[in-house]
Amino acid sequence: MTTSIKLCPVSDLKLGFPVRVEPAGLPPVAVYAIEGTFYVTADTCTHGQASLCDGYQNDDTIECPYHGGVFNIKTGEPLTFPCTVALAIYPAREEAGYVWIEAGAAT
Ligand code: FES
Repeated sequence: MTTSIKLCPVSDLKLGFPVRVEPAGLPPVAVYAIEGTFYVTADTCTHGQASLCDGYQNDDTIECPYHGGVFNIKTGEPLTFPCTVALAIYPAREEAGYVWIEAGAAT
């Protein structure tokens, strides 16, 4: 069973500026807007304890601020060393002006 979780207002999201949210019962997540579509990944880098929201977004990639590892935001796939483990991603949707995820739907 999944539970819908409200993350943040759509109006808070701008290309290149992901928003960190700490939903109850989940690890921190990063919320991104890319060309009018919303994406949600785990916020903590899989290589260390860096917040990816402190990193550098370039279209659909996010570069970790610690060691420069890069991930694909849409798939969670690690693209550059030293990151070798994918980020959890959450299917996201917009409703009533907010971005939502389903708690049990991380991949
Ligand atoms: S902590 Fe993110 S690349 Fe090392």
